[in-house]
This record gives sequence, C-alpha cells and structure tokens, in this order.
Amino acid sequence: MKNIWRSLQRPIFILAPMDDVTDTVFRQMILTTHKPDLFFTEFTNVDGMLSAEGNHIVKKKLKFDPVEHPIIAQVWGNNPDHFYKSSKIIKDLGFDGIDINLGCPIPDVVKKGCGGGLIGNIKLSTEIVEAALEGSHHMPISVKTRLGIKKIETEDWVQKLLSLPLSAITIHARTVSEMSKGPAHWDEIKKAVEVRNSLKKETLIIGNGDVKKREEGLLRIKETGADGIMIGRGIFHDVYAFATINNKPVEISVERRLELLERHVKLYQKVWAHSKPYANLKKYFKIYINGFDGASLMRVKFMETHNFEEVFSLLKSIRFHTQIIIDKKRTI
Ligand SMILES: Cc1cc2nc3c(=O)[nH]c(=O)nc-3n(C[C@H](O)[C@H](O)[C@H](O)COP(=O)(O)O)c2cc1C
Repeated sequence: MKNIWRSLQRPIFILAPMDDVTDTVFRQMILTTHKPDLFFTEFTNVDGMLSAEGNHIVKKKLKFDPVEHPIIAQVWGNNPDHFYKSSKIIKDLGFDGIDINLGCPIPDVVKKGCGGGLIGNIKLSTEIVEAALEGSHHMPISVKTRLGIKKIETEDWVQKLLSLPLSAITIHARTVSEMSKGPAHWDEIKKAVEVRNSLKKETLIIGNGDVKKREEGLLRIKETGADGIMIGRGIFHDVYAFATINNKPVEISVERRLELLERHVKLYQKVWAHSKPYANLKKYFKIYINGFDGASLMRVKFMETHNFEEVFSLLKSIRFHTQIIIDKKRTI
C-alpha cells in the first residue's frame, strides 16, 4: 500500500478532526470551498467498533464518500487487541491511513488512560501502534498528541514517539490540562522538529493550534520547519480557510453563503435524515451566516426552524426579499 503521507506534497494542510462537526457532510462541503490536502474522520472508539451496541454510533463517524480521499480514520482507546481488530475493519473500509488519538483532553477519556491519558506511556502506546500496524497489514500509522499532560515535555515525549514506526506526528501545541485555553506554544513545535532532525527520522511533524487560515499556517511553517499544518476551529470563521487567493481573504457574497448553507442542508438531509436529529444541523448555520450586515438577525430566523421544510422555505423567502432590495437599489 502506498504511504499517503509520503505521496503528499509539502506543506501538507489538513482539516482537523472535530467530533460531531467534521462528519462526511461537512468534509464534503469543505471540498466545495477549498480542498485540504488531507481529511481526518472524527475520533472513533475502537471498543465501540467491536461492540454490537456501539457499532451503530461509530459507523456514522467512519462514514465517508470516495470523493474525500485521501482520508485518515482517527481512533482512540487503550486496548491493543481492539486496535488490532478495528484496524482490519478500517483497512477494509478503504481508508488511506490510521491516526491514533494520544491527545484528547476530555476528563472521562483521560481518566480511562486513553487519548491524552496515554502521553508518557510509551509502553502501551508502542503496543497500540504495533497492533494497528499488524491488524491493518501495514497501513500508514500516525498519532495526534499534545505537549504533555500537566507540564510541557515535548522533547522527551516526541523523542519516545519517534522510536515508533510512525508516518506522522501531529502536535496540538498545548498540554492536556490547558485544554484549549491560552495561546498555543508554537516554539514547542520548532523543538519537536529539531528533535526529529537530530535523530534523522523521516516521521513528518504537523503543527496544530490556533491557525486560522493557510497564510498564517505558511508563516508557522517558516518559523518552525514543520511539514504541515492542521486547521480546526479556523474553518468555523472562514469556510475558505484552506484557500489562498492573492493573499487576500476570500470575499463571500450573501448569495454564495446562502447557496453553501442550502447545499449543506440538502446533503445533511440526504445522508443523515434517518440517523441524526435535525437540531444537530443548527450548529453549522453560524459558519455560513456571518460576516455581513444583518447576519445575526438572519441567523436567529434559521435557528428558529424545526425541520428541513422550514429551512428551505426560509431560504426561499430570504432570497425573494433580498431580490426586492437589489431591484430597489437598481431603480434608485
Ligand atoms: C468541537 C471539537 C471537537 C474536537 N474533536 C477532536 C477529535 O475528535 N479528535 C482530535 O484529535 N481532536 C479533536 N479536537 C481538537 C482539534 O482537532 C484541534 O486539535 C484543536 O481544536 C486545536 O486546533 P485549532 O486551534 O486549529 O482548532 C476537537 C476540537 C473541537 C473544537
């Protein structure tokens, strides 16, 4: 199997995994704005993948459309045997690689010794990585981690991770305790790159934390020597976060915003109408309806909808009234 991490041109720009947000529908929407080099799924529990009760939940997280390639399945847990078995499933589903979450700061996850709770535990992390490698018949394996649990231990942790057969290490430049608070420590990404270089390893280092868009990511790469950048919340503020158009932010007209929102609703209806509640869709409205006069008032109207029919009829009425305003302006 070709190693996707090796075949991508650097710098590599990646849409971050964001649970309950970056599902197949949202990823396909980002394809219509500007395609990142690589997608990750939301994090998926390996125990759930193997249990009858959990399987219907995790199936949604692993759903993807072939247009989303290259795409990496992100998994979490702490039982190597479950990683072995779930990696076989991931391979059969046609993913391009497996990413192991070693950074999630959710207290329930950390307490169980999973996600960020695995930082520093190189023995169990090694068993997990080897199990994933074997179970998947040597798919590319990567990890997404943080700088430490309570205190920053970048050099020590990265050095240990570099002893594993990993294609890439994505580092969210905060500790587990910091959650998402305070600015990301980008100087630590530089240190991680230096450790990698001094050990002459080929493992790619991807930096993550607070990058809003591509231009900012390019500056971070210049400062740190990282091979790529992962952007998460930046996409909430700008659905064109991965685009570079003459170094200027992409201007999005209100009509284009409505068109994107309508496309998202239609795709959500097609993919999830029978398996996710309508209310789940509302979190996306702010992403499209923002950045213009009257956006917050318009958003309130969208938030008041209860089903697909109401949102389509609201879109129709907004377009009708916007047209009247445009026509009036033309006649003045
Ligand atoms: C709503 C939300 C859900 C997230 N879910 C995941 C996840 O499933 N797996 C993961 O590795 N990180 C997850 N993260 C962390 C992001 O991938 C990323 O590391 C973090 O947001 C910092 O990057 P940013 O500043 O570009 O957003 C999540 C973050 C948010 C805001």
